[in-house]
Amino acid sequence: EKGGYDHFMLKEIYEQPQVIRDTFRGRLLSDQGLIKMAGIEDNLAKFINAKRIIIVACGTSWHAAQVAEYMIEEFARIPVEVEYASEFRYRNPIIHTDDVVLAISQSGETADTLAAIKLAKEKGAFVFGVCNVVGSSISRETHAGAYTHAGPEIGVASTKAFTTQITVLALIALRLAKAKGTMSQPDYLRNLIELELIPEKVQEALLENDRILEIAHIYKDAANCLFLGRGFNFPVALEGALKLKEISYIHAEGYPAAEMKHGPIALIDENMPVIVIAPQQNHYDKVVSNIQEIKARSGKIIALVSKGDQQVRNLADHIIEMPHSTEALTSIIATIPLQLLSYHVAVLRGTNVDQPRNLAKSVTVE
Ligand code: M6R
Repeated sequence: EKGGYDHFMLKEIYEQPQVIRDTFRGRLLSDQGLIKMAGIEDNLAKFINAKRIIIVACGTSWHAAQVAEYMIEEFARIPVEVEYASEFRYRNPIIHTDDVVLAISQSGETADTLAAIKLAKEKGAFVFGVCNVVGSSISRETHAGAYTHAGPEIGVASTKAFTTQITVLALIALRLAKAKGTMSQPDYLRNLIELELIPEKVQEALLENDRILEIAHIYKDAANCLFLGRGFNFPVALEGALKLKEISYIHAEGYPAAEMKHGPIALIDENMPVIVIAPQQNHYDKVVSNIQEIKARSGKIIALVSKGDQQVRNLADHIIEMPHSTEALTSIIATIPLQLLSYHVAVLRGTNVDQPRNLAKSVTVE
């Protein structure tokens, strides 16, 4: 059942090229310049007239929501707010009838997310779900939705659900951008083509596995770990830290790279591994200066870089290469090495990778 892999988590990591493709199959028609998703088409007016989109989710799905915020705001210019479902439901949130509430959940059974949906419906909002489990409570409770096609995710640590969520959310953001006319046609088409190439780029990112295993050997006994990223990769840093915490029990934190100097920099010494997501994109120079700041304090730098990068290579203790893509879609690619890193560290530490202590696959109680 694990398909020859030692753990479900590893199998699910390796399934990503396939399930990302499954998720956009029939929806992404790049040769025609079209995105077709029934749930969005049927409710297009609600989305394009929305004053704002509120996204509710928990855990890894909340990280996907953060990526979606950046995508929807940048591509479709609709204001987005991301909320922890558990906070949203209890703070008498302001919800208008022209708000669209987007709920993201792998299992479709998360109690807090379900309660947030019910509240949003009571207040008259249109609620759209992004779920993986067909027929789940959340998929039934929402007015409309779009499924991820990740297949069953058994490992408690979410992997393929996250990257397929980003895939669906990218499709939604691009479809809304097209409808609103907020993106130039060449940019729109380029994103469609790049999205179609993501499965093979994820495949390429997986080829770094041996190098990541070597890095895991070096840092497996770390007590703490910092993950930094900017822009679309800030939520990826949060997700990298969550993955490491939950399966290896190493304390880890994710931060937007520039926030480091507002506190976490005090933690940096020769015992602190810092994983920096540093692709050659918009924020590259700024991330390079963050790396220099870490180096000046003897922190150990593990950098995720674009293939062929030289500048960061010269500064970092270790580099992991990833294929180029658009800034937004790099979030999917950069996730892969972080999943593998936490997996290998956990295996080396002898933890129960698929069923970490104290955790359940779906959190059906608040
Ligand atoms: O099924 P959901 O996406 O609603 O689950 C949300 C979280 O419980 C889940 O992502 C959790 O954080 C995972 N263990 C993360 O790996």
